Amino acid sequence: QDTHAWSGRFSEPVSELVKKYTASVTFDKRLAEFDIEGSLAHAAMLNRVGVLSDEDLAAIRQGMAGLLEDIRQGRFEWRLDLEDVHMNIERRLTDLIGDAGKRLHTGRSRNDQVATDIRLWLRDAVDGIVLLVTDLQRALLDLAEEHAATVMPGFTHLQVAQPVTFGHHLLAYVEMLARDKGRLTDCRRRINHLPLGAAALAGTTFPIDRHYTAELLGFDAVCHNSLDAVSDRDFAIEFTAAASLVMTHLSRLSEELILWMSPRVGFIDIADRFCTGSSIMPQKKNPDVPELVRGKTGRVNGNLVALLTLMKSQPLAYNKDNQEDKEPLFDTVDTLVDTLRIYADMMRGITVKADAMREAVLQGFATATDLADYLVKKGLPFRDSHEVVARAVRHAEGQGCDLADLPLGVLQGFSGLVGEDVYRVLTPEGSLAQRNHVGGTAVERVRKEITRHRKSLAVP
Ligand code: ARG
Repeated sequence: QDTHAWSGRFSEPVSELVKKYTASVTFDKRLAEFDIEGSLAHAAMLNRVGVLSDEDLAAIRQGMAGLLEDIRQGRFEWRLDLEDVHMNIERRLTDLIGDAGKRLHTGRSRNDQVATDIRLWLRDAVDGIVLLVTDLQRALLDLAEEHAATVMPGFTHLQVAQPVTFGHHLLAYVEMLARDKGRLTDCRRRINHLPLGAAALAGTTFPIDRHYTAELLGFDAVCHNSLDAVSDRDFAIEFTAAASLVMTHLSRLSEELILWMSPRVGFIDIADRFCTGSSIMPQKKNPDVPELVRGKTGRVNGNLVALLTLMKSQPLAYNKDNQEDKEPLFDTVDTLVDTLRIYADMMRGITVKADAMREAVLQGFATATDLADYLVKKGLPFRDSHEVVARAVRHAEGQGCDLADLPLGVLQGFSGLVGEDVYRVLTPEGSLAQRNHVGGTAVERVRKEITRHRKSLAVP
């Protein structure tokens, strides 16, 4: 029995090494269910336009059903000598049902077939990922709600800057993830175009009905150029770029979790089940999960660069290079799915040490800007006010105390505009309360934002 569908043209079989080098079945068998779905739609379309008989269609459906069951049960024998998922399935189908199986590939090429399979697979993956991002947003919102009023220092340059709340801080990530979802659903629109019908590169002589196939497979549109349909993978690149950004956002959060969990900071604790110990240092509890998220971000970024590089020098139309699109794409989806799952779980297991957060706010003159604003409201130009407060800070630093600890008389020594009401703006709570505008830190605002996010998450 000849092994390849195309071996008739060749005078000698390919070497073992070449067989192994060119085969993709070891990884593209993952596309099997989508390959069958695509084939069934293609067969139904061929039947509808009168190219495939009713008997052949029935045989194909029956054969594919058995084959699918074998695949699901792990009974299917994948053969490396049959190169890829497409030829494995077609050969098995033909073994099962004879000539009808050989007619399936009419008006089709593996080039438009594989492009269709990947789109179907990726569309499904994107839908799952969007749900996982939403779940993580919910976990963050729950924690944010609990800590809408928990004071913590906001940092710039990793130096204490101004008071924020832990809830407000977490909402920043909810926003990032909302944009990530926007990018994912936007790229899904471009994934959802049907390449089938492009055949190898130039379309087909059969009277195909591409819109019918598209409808059966749930595609919104058909690809309008046969060369483009089989050769571009920009939808996969776009997805991976969106995935890189999700990972980038989670990597930033991971960096913060690691820092916050460091005993030198001590803002939070991460549940034991997300940490590991040391084989030599008995006291250790290491934040392995966030560290790995940070590390795996490099891996996903690498996949993005791999896909971009894969595409950049390919002349039209299909080239075998494209077979290399799958592993980076699969790896990106797997990494992202696992990361999102574990992250939502981890956020639900965080303990917040509110006292340590508050303590840290009181140590960095976090309300200096509030004092400056206070003096401006009393009539001092901002630049002068800045200067006055800077001197007050230098004094407090010398005294080893916070601005709020300076007696009224001392503060009045820096500016006669200081009144007794100054202490209201010098506390972290006073600072927050005054920033009561959209996007601001006031507890009331943070709560409103949580409600707004919850509403938008409720809409599918
Ligand atoms: N395994 C191939 C891929 O992943 C399928 C398409 C092969 N087409 C071809 N003309 N060799 O791209």
